[in-house]
Amino acid sequence: MKKQVCEGIYWVGANEWSKSHFHGHELSIKHGTTYNSFFIDDEKKVVIDSVRDSKCDEWFKNIEEFCKIEELDILIVDHAEPDHSTAIPRLLERNPNIQIYVSNGGKISVSRFFPMAVNNLKVVKTGDSIKIGKRTLKFFEAQMLHWPDTMFTYSDTDKVLFSADAFGEHLSTSKLFNDEIDNEGLWYEAEKYFANILTLYSQPILKKIDAFLQLNWELKMIAPSHGIIWRDNPTQIVEKYIHWAKGECEGKAVIIFDTIWGGTEKMADAIGQGLAERGVHYKIFNAGSADMADVMTDLLGAKAIIMGSATRNNTVLPVIAAFLEETKGLKFRNKIGAAFGTYGWSGECIKRIEAGFAESGIEVVAEGVKSQFSPDEKDLLKCKELGHTIASKIKCK
Ligand code: FEO
Repeated sequence: MKKQVCEGIYWVGANEWSKSHFHGHELSIKHGTTYNSFFIDDEKKVVIDSVRDSKCDEWFKNIEEFCKIEELDILIVDHAEPDHSTAIPRLLERNPNIQIYVSNGGKISVSRFFPMAVNNLKVVKTGDSIKIGKRTLKFFEAQMLHWPDTMFTYSDTDKVLFSADAFGEHLSTSKLFNDEIDNEGLWYEAEKYFANILTLYSQPILKKIDAFLQLNWELKMIAPSHGIIWRDNPTQIVEKYIHWAKGECEGKAVIIFDTIWGGTEKMADAIGQGLAERGVHYKIFNAGSADMADVMTDLLGAKAIIMGSATRNNTVLPVIAAFLEETKGLKFRNKIGAAFGTYGWSGECIKRIEAGFAESGIEVVAEGVKSQFSPDEKDLLKCKELGHTIASKIKCK
């Protein structure tokens, strides 16, 4: 079935309905994903982005609704991560002379992944364009949205921006457009994508979006390489990216803990009560069972992170260490934090969490609360007071 984006442009990608993780096991994707690829039917036959090799037959079949694979003139690779590119070797087997347009960064990534494509590459940079018939395609290098190779391709006739992974989300649906699906789930997945993939690059992203907006390209649609096409108010996702990249937070808190015998969990609950008593919304996650990518999504919009662990082997429990490592890598902006936890005899949990916060750029704004073996009434009162303190810091920041 032909899936039309607008006159002369068609979706020829593939759905991934049942995958539960992406990037190996790193990122959970609870609603699958799509590998979006687009066919432009003009004097030149153009395809924008490819699919992963496991979906190559489906991709060929979709393209051949319009023309033979051997008749394609141009493949544009806006980003060469394997989910959008591992079908290229089979494309080259059938069409060895196809021209492949890439950015400077794309020349490196495509050459490294697919040495057999080197002689097909045509490098373009911001400001370059190609005439493919009645359309002109323009290019914009969008480094770090989210790889150095990422570029945007823009069809000036249709006012459609093909934005690679930027502005996309992992969501498999038979629909094409944002005005056709449940928007709550859509926004969650878009935020999850930003939180887990893009947060570290917030500063260059702000500069890059600013440079892009200065081009004043009219946008009727933004078509990322995953998920839905933004047709209704397409720039709303660009505005959200600016909001997230600036580290603008809501006045809410995330409490995350791991426990051995339940004491640290009781402390987490008491801190939550303290926050609630001061009118601050919070969520508690047990690090042992929580999905890290979902926690990072909540963290993106939260002002405070309060982390707790029992002490074991003179340090925090391993899952808490993993969460600290992830926050250190993502470098969330404008966050405040505090630590808590139980211990038996050495009690390094607070010190280790606070050191991790310092490396993550999270400002520690209250003294941590420690409890020996099991929290008593006094300890739980201190936890509640910690909740009060964090609430007041959230409100005055
Ligand atoms: Fe969807 Fe960065 O690849």
